[in-house]
Amino acid sequence: MLRSNLIPAEVKPLKVLLVEDNLSLANLYVNFLQAEPVALSHVATGSEAMTAIRNERPSVVFLDLQLPDMNGIEILNWIQNDGIDAAVIVVTADGSLSTAVEAMKAGALDFLVKPFNRERLVVTLRNALERQRLSAIVEKVKGGYPRDNYCGFVGSSVSMQAVYQVIESAAQSKATVFVTGESGTGKEVCAHALHDLSPRNDKPFVPINCAAIPRELMESAIFGHVKGAFTGATQHQSGAAKRADGGTLFLDEVCEMDADLQTKLLRFIQTGSFEAVGSPTTEVVDVRFICATNRDPWVEVQAGRFREDLYYRLHVIPIQLPPLRERDDDILTLVRHFIRVYAEEEGKAFRDVSPEAARVLLDYSWPGNIRELQNVIRNAVVLYDAEVIEPAMLPAKIAQAAGNRVPKAAGAAGAPAALPATATLAPIDEASLSERIVPLWKLEKEATEQAIELCGGNIARAAAYLGISPSTIYRKRVSWEAMESNLVAAAESSR
Ligand SMILES: Nc1ncnc2c1ncn2[C@@H]1O[C@H](COP(=O)(O)OP(=O)(O)OP(=O)(O)O)[C@@H](O)[C@H]1O
Ligand SMILES: [Mg+2]
Repeated sequence: MLRSNLIPAEVKPLKVLLVEDNLSLANLYVNFLQAEPVALSHVATGSEAMTAIRNERPSVVFLDLQLPDMNGIEILNWIQNDGIDAAVIVVTADGSLSTAVEAMKAGALDFLVKPFNRERLVVTLRNALERQRLSAIVEKVKGGYPRDNYCGFVGSSVSMQAVYQVIESAAQSKATVFVTGESGTGKEVCAHALHDLSPRNDKPFVPINCAAIPRELMESAIFGHVKGAFTGATQHQSGAAKRADGGTLFLDEVCEMDADLQTKLLRFIQTGSFEAVGSPTTEVVDVRFICATNRDPWVEVQAGRFREDLYYRLHVIPIQLPPLRERDDDILTLVRHFIRVYAEEEGKAFRDVSPEAARVLLDYSWPGNIRELQNVIRNAVVLYDAEVIEPAMLPAKIAQAAGNRVPKAAGAAGAPAALPATATLAPIDEASLSERIVPLWKLEKEATEQAIELCGGNIARAAAYLGISPSTIYRKRVSWEAMESNLVAAAESSR
């Protein structure tokens, strides 16, 4: 391989590859180009060319079409199919138009017919380099534009752009990521994105929820156990640590882990080694850790519930997901996204929200974040038949909460201006009364469902908090279903 050594290595000149089987011609071209600020290398065959292109990633390739081992068009096709970003200039002794057309169709940037002089070669090279420089700028600018979705996330708010950037850089590394944020802000989505964008994405992503597994089973869930390790351990079972070998272990709700296990986790994170419950053998795995919590981990440390040394071990790359109320720009984007998803899922005609409903949604504080928004839209799509979501289709608590809040800037994101404080209500007709007044059974249903949700689906607990018996909830559910089917029937008969 000939190399022009006129360019000092530290200025990182662009690489140019010359593919030419005639050595005296190759020498001539190297001579022609020696004053150009490029790192020029030369190969004489098609297979050498493919290796050099793959390994060196040249910006520009001068490609002779008649090579001893293959036709240059084959190399051109391979460059196109593999999406290799190189500007190819085809060089041939055949001046026929059809060869030029074929090469350009196959993706060549330019075409040189032998023999050519120094000036023609230099101008062609400079044009190609300029084109590469411009397309690199375009790519960079494209990358700098705010993204409105990213690896499972929907939203283009400034605060989410920062999150996307950290995910992008952190995904490449093995460093532990600690994801914090209120409930429903997307911590699990974040963990998946980190894994999917990482070089480990062909290995398992193993999530383990430290709040959902009883404490006495947690150690075995993470590290596995051997037969007879405890009552009920009838056979050897490997844990999440082993299953995640080579991949990612996602420890969700990590602040719920008890003190003993925190000590074992610390050692596992420090050394990659652990013992299954009841086993004397130490196992070693290669795992990337992602942890999440909806608590403030530092408050947990201060309160003595979370080991400080473990906190520092985990807190290598912190990602804090902002609450939805701080992502104003994203609320309507998410609303429209979920309308599209659920309308398709349910076979409904919904396609947007009315400006009034948009105002209600924008004025609400979303304590349950994206999960709550998702549920609100899903409910509206399931329960009603229309093209546009109206305020009456939203849970009463949202409309009420929005009504109680000081309105935000008028006209925000397509919503109409809020009523001025001095405005009086216009006389209200029957139709809008029925839209504005929420029947008691609906309020009761929403309060009950919210209580059940807050109690993690435990009806008995929810009933205790509501001051009624669980059987009352079951009975009421039957009557609410009847009310809802009456509503549907009434809506159909009025069509
Ligand atoms: N930016 C987003 N775009 C689209 N969907 C999202 C986004 N963020 C979250 N979601 C969806 O919202 C729901 C809640 O997200 P996720 O489970 O990741 O939240 P979380 O922070 O882990 O909540 P928790 O603390 O309750 O476990 C999921 O259905 C998820 O797909
Ligand atoms: Mg979660």
